Amino acid sequence: MGEALGGLKRSMYCGEPRESDIGKKITLMGWVQRNRKLGGLDFIDLRDREGIMQLVFGEEINKDAFEKANTVKPEYCIAVTGEVVKREATNDKMPTGMVELKCDMIKILSESQTPPIYIKEGLDASEQVRLKNRYLDLRRPDMQKIFILRNKVTKVARDFLDNNGFLDIETPILTKSTPEGARDYLVPSRNYPGMFYALPQSPQIFKQLLMISGFDKYYQIAKCFRDEDLRANRQPEFTQIDLEMSFVEEEDVIEVNERLISTIFREVLGHEVKLPIARMTFKDAMEKYGSDKPDIRFGMEITDLSEEVKDIDFVVFKGALENGGSVRALCLKGGASMGRKDIDRLGEFVKTYKAKGLAYIQLKEEGIKSPIAKFLSEDDMTSIISKMSAETGDLILIVADKNSVVFQSLGALRMDLAKKFELIKDKSEFNFCWITEFPLFEYSEEEERYTACHHPFTAPMDEDLDMIETDPGKVRSKAYDLVLNGEELGGGSIRIHDMELQQRMFKALGFTEEEAWARFGFLLEAFKFGPPPHGGLAFGLDRIIMFIAGTDNIRDVIAFPKNQNAYCYLSEAPNIADEKQLEELGINIKVKEDK
Ligand code: AMO
Ligand code: AMP
Repeated sequence: MGEALGGLKRSMYCGEPRESDIGKKITLMGWVQRNRKLGGLDFIDLRDREGIMQLVFGEEINKDAFEKANTVKPEYCIAVTGEVVKREATNDKMPTGMVELKCDMIKILSESQTPPIYIKEGLDASEQVRLKNRYLDLRRPDMQKIFILRNKVTKVARDFLDNNGFLDIETPILTKSTPEGARDYLVPSRNYPGMFYALPQSPQIFKQLLMISGFDKYYQIAKCFRDEDLRANRQPEFTQIDLEMSFVEEEDVIEVNERLISTIFREVLGHEVKLPIARMTFKDAMEKYGSDKPDIRFGMEITDLSEEVKDIDFVVFKGALENGGSVRALCLKGGASMGRKDIDRLGEFVKTYKAKGLAYIQLKEEGIKSPIAKFLSEDDMTSIISKMSAETGDLILIVADKNSVVFQSLGALRMDLAKKFELIKDKSEFNFCWITEFPLFEYSEEEERYTACHHPFTAPMDEDLDMIETDPGKVRSKAYDLVLNGEELGGGSIRIHDMELQQRMFKALGFTEEEAWARFGFLLEAFKFGPPPHGGLAFGLDRIIMFIAGTDNIRDVIAFPKNQNAYCYLSEAPNIADEKQLEELGINIKVKEDK
């Protein structure tokens, strides 16, 4: 008994001793942050999850302990016993800075090699080194803070959902392809050679089945898997706070989720989210901000100039309008002084969003400068300037094209300019907004058919039902997203619970009856047995934590993340499988690519 610890028992965490503990004899355990000799004494900073405590050893205090303390190096794991005393030179930057531990015993619990990462606040290692040595990277106090926060968020979320009648029910990880539309991760089956499980992109179908089972309110902190192009806010496996409710309309789902989010921000950050959260329709979001996740911490909205330019003799504008597109613009306050080269760069920027060009009007002190001035009468120019509410010193940036290109390019340009010109003044602001009335379908040029904007179980708005067959592109849905500072935090919808409507939906999506049954038959079958009206939502938990922790890298908030290419430097996954495993699975590898 007590071998490893030599009978010692820890009294408190290193971050806990205070002046009120002076005179107490305590035992601490942790890692050596640093060890330095000073005037015949030896000072060790001992670190654990909760903080750092200064230890002092001296020949006078205890000779054995002093000599042993001299030998320990950074990241040794040690236990010490001593008396809490008042410090001579106090340090008010540390919570324990008024006291130190006068040690009469030290036990080395385990030694450490020199770590490849310096364990301290702030970064000094490449991401590859950090991820390869993640367990050491996670020792750094700023990383520990993030995971302590993450735990707080899930605790608050669970308490809230429990208090509001939601049941935590797990759904399978080895399952069948789900409808979120990303590529699946597949797991080969040994029992059924040649067959595969798919990892869930979300618990979507199962949570709907749980509603049909009568559980009424479900939630889960659920792992989701999507093989998609990774970005700063996307990982191949990530976590959702996922929920579903029966006998509800959009308002009910939105209301409970607003309270959930505001409870999380209040309890974890002390930040009060103003309720109700503002709402904007998808149409307004696209027209004003060129995005379905608008950042509304600053203005510079997109303005439609189609009416103002409809009669001018410029083929680019004319062509766009004739083809059902539009001419729209941004007004950058104080942007007129921008040089030709910089404006050309903006032109190149919008081309990456398929815009064919960027026309501009510089309202300089000395007069108006614009490559399209030659096409405009004085009246045209005046009406454009007035529509844009532009003043001397401003820069008007115009794109003419089909609407999707105009919105995308000006939306991206708006964000780019906001960064360059620091238009977001208050970086600590949390600006929430619901986006509603999403289109039910979007047209995929690639597949030459309509696809579901959210997923195929999302209900259309009642007023648009008639257009499912005749004008699918115009049908709006009962889907909603919660956006925070220009990022999508979560999304959901009211579901279809009517078989007939679901069949119409599949038809519009170009599924044959057989295809629909092959993919989602088990849900369609369940719909035959009195499904309740239901709806729900899922938040990206990792994204919530990113905001709360103030990082823009999703890998910071996941203990063991993958890199941008879905590779784990630590475990070296994915990796090859044994011949024997492949044999059992009935798998022949066609291509062996070098890693
Ligand atoms: P959706 O696909 O919108 O909806 O996902 C919900 C939320 O999950 C987060 N998210 C991600 N986070 C990190 N990495 C990723 N690769 C990633 N993909 C998505 C986002 C997003 O808002 N079943 C539906 C929900 C529903 O209808 O109830 C769904 O999964 O924050
Ligand atoms: P040009 O007469 O060819 O010199 O073009 C005049 C301006 O129109 C240039 O600044 C082009 O960048 C711009 N332009 C070209 N195509 C578009 C477009 N689709 N939308 C907006 N401006 C464009």
